Amino acid sequence: MVKVTVPATSANVGAGFDALGLAVSMHNTVTMEECGRIDILASDGTLIPTGPGNLVYRSAKAVFDQLGQPLKGIRIRQENPIPMARGLGSSSACIVAGILGANALLGSPLTRRQMLTLATSIEGHPDNVAPAMLGGFVTSVYDEGQVYSVRKPIDQELAFAAFIPNFKLLTEKARAALPKTVDRADAVYNLSRAALATAAFCDGDYELLKVATKDALHQQYRLPLIPGGERVFEIAWDLGAYAVYISGAGPTIMAVVHRDNSDFFGRAEELLAQTPETLAFSLRRMLADNTGAVVE
Ligand code: HSE
Repeated sequence: MVKVTVPATSANVGAGFDALGLAVSMHNTVTMEECGRIDILASDGTLIPTGPGNLVYRSAKAVFDQLGQPLKGIRIRQENPIPMARGLGSSSACIVAGILGANALLGSPLTRRQMLTLATSIEGHPDNVAPAMLGGFVTSVYDEGQVYSVRKPIDQELAFAAFIPNFKLLTEKARAALPKTVDRADAVYNLSRAALATAAFCDGDYELLKVATKDALHQQYRLPLIPGGERVFEIAWDLGAYAVYISGAGPTIMAVVHRDNSDFFGRAEELLAQTPETLAFSLRRMLADNTGAVVE
């Protein structure tokens, strides 16, 4: 039996649409062993598909198929603390768990690059699966079916404030809200900031993040799908966040704060409670996960 632990991830980091992502300290756990049938359960009672449509199963099966190995059946037990359809990489965590677990069951024939490429082909973009697998802050390019990623550990002086609403936003809906084409000025706006944000994380120059995480490609179209989201942005900025952005496709709003900003969390909770719209949000404090997925 193998056990895989995979962190939650926060993609885009503002301007880095489909490219940047970081891993945080919230984890799904999956145990997996071959058996004669498909036997899938969530041991924490979360609602998941228990047939061949299950994402952990489909991802594991993709590994068996790629290697030409038959898969008669598999026993999967999932614990899913990462909330689903909230922009915290729950589907990527399932994909990475399935791929790493199946690879371990087969004697670890695949390289990290091969597994990352397979995970990206299932997810469609690398910005969650790469940090889920590698940990830390990761910048990725998906080029002609290959993923190229560089990871950098995140400074432990940073903390992450996830404002998680009690409603879901499906990634397909949040992507459908985006225009099909972009102006050159908006493209330049984002590519320059995505590069600056990467350099800022690498150099530890967090004051740059305020400018570097601004975005012209997706957040303005998605905020209307997140009632109370604009107020959450205001709250986090007013309390001294380095960066505030929609986590992945939303609806979670992520703030990057200094670990010693002790007022931030208490004050933010008070302010959330003062407006009916922001009552839907609960606040979760996390640190970076610099380890990524672990197979035991
Ligand atoms: N980069 C993706 C998006 C992340 O913003 O749609 C969600 O999977």
